Amino acid sequence: MAEKEQASDNNTVTIIDNRNGTQVDFPILDSTLGPDVIDVQTLYRTLGYFTYDPGFTSTASCDSEITFIDGANGVLLHRGYSIEELTENSNFLEVAYLLINGELPTAEEWETFRKDIALHTMVDEQLIRFYNGFRRDAHPMAIMVGVVGALSAFYHDSLDINDAEQRRVASMRLIAKMPTIAAMAYKYTKGQPFVYPTNSLSYTENFLKMMFAVPADEYVPNPVLSQALEKIFILHADHEQNASTSTVRLAGSSQANPFACIAAGIASLWGPAHGGANEAVLKMLHEIGDKSNIQKYIARAKDKSDPFRLMGFGHRVYKNYDPRAKVLKASAHAVLNELGCANEPLFELALELERIALEDEYFIEKKLFPNVDFYSGIILRAMGFPTSMFTVLFALARTAGWVAQWNEMIADPIHKIGRPRQRYTGSSPRNYIPMDKR
Ligand code: SDX
Repeated sequence: MAEKEQASDNNTVTIIDNRNGTQVDFPILDSTLGPDVIDVQTLYRTLGYFTYDPGFTSTASCDSEITFIDGANGVLLHRGYSIEELTENSNFLEVAYLLINGELPTAEEWETFRKDIALHTMVDEQLIRFYNGFRRDAHPMAIMVGVVGALSAFYHDSLDINDAEQRRVASMRLIAKMPTIAAMAYKYTKGQPFVYPTNSLSYTENFLKMMFAVPADEYVPNPVLSQALEKIFILHADHEQNASTSTVRLAGSSQANPFACIAAGIASLWGPAHGGANEAVLKMLHEIGDKSNIQKYIARAKDKSDPFRLMGFGHRVYKNYDPRAKVLKASAHAVLNELGCANEPLFELALELERIALEDEYFIEKKLFPNVDFYSGIILRAMGFPTSMFTVLFALARTAGWVAQWNEMIADPIHKIGRPRQRYTGSSPRNYIPMDKR
């Protein structure tokens, strides 16, 4: 990726309003990498227009130093480090530190961070009563939205967003408690007792134990599974201003407390077009069932009159292979081999579906490649996670990114409440009509 050349002197874009000849220059602001931006903050005041960009396909909502995506070349950097190097050499908690603090920790900083997280892995015992209010067949994401939002009712000493120390404690609490809350959501639906955290274990080993340990047996984490989970969590940690991160930022811009903001992010991530896609991919593969049905579903995905889309394919930014999908595809082979299900039929079906789709003119022309969700579900299913927990794991990992982005927004001196405008296409002013005259 070439370093950006210095912009020319006339670093502006001129808009000429051909309706009345008005001409205004707007400054171009340089980015370190990727597209520069046109600063249109004075557009409405100078030209009387709003910009119009449904879905924000060409809109930068903020400045950020955390993550960079080059969609055309399939590049993903966190604070300048490539996702490939981080999944190869780092672990999820260290990546969380990097996202929040901007630098990889020294040995001393790592020890302090790890102990800070360990301090907060348990939840208030009264929270258990929240779980008892849910039906046993509640979707775990419904429980996550409710319980994480409810943390605001317990941790009054870390709600003041203007106090840097309270922001730090809230950040630690969220990253530390998500695995505990997630595992409790799973245990509750299984009718099994909750398992308390074990701080002597790593972040992923502790999560696996809280998920799968039962009082009747000794639990020893499988290193292959905990390593695979480290990669999966790293791959899901942050991803620029995606829908759920933008939700967290918008909620945070009103100065809502951090627990409420993260609960809003969880709600947004749940959608099948976003984080819910990993669950939807498994449902789709089960529905396709056999390689002989693939062409029928590809045809449905291309049929504009059919709402069916190939779940796990396509991305707003990646118009090349999602680099996270590449890592997960390789990881899937390793995990399935380790678990003795190398010939897992759903994995074989997924590989064949990918092969056929990537040769299809429609998918090539629309640049629809497998995304992070295409392979993650197959690995998670092989590891023993039920489909309903896939998006919960996505939310658990993305909490690191949400917390980093939330802190960056609060610390940004120019941050203000987010309040988009609209293009009004409704009725012009009209008078009230009495009922008997309608
Ligand atoms: C995530 O933003 C992020 O970074 C998200 C994420 C993260 O880490 O936070 O990466 C996580 O959400 C990954 C995406 C998971 N979602 C899915 O796999 C669901 C299936 N994908 C589609 O819903 C879709 O591709 C989106 C939502 C992911 C992206 O949609 P866009 O960018 O708004 O693109 P679009 O819907 O305008 O589609 C462009 C064209 C359309 O055809 P035309 O109207 O131009 O004729 O491509 C078609 C779409 O119909 N298309 C698909 C398709 N995805 C897009 N056709 C069939 N199958 C698909 N999967």
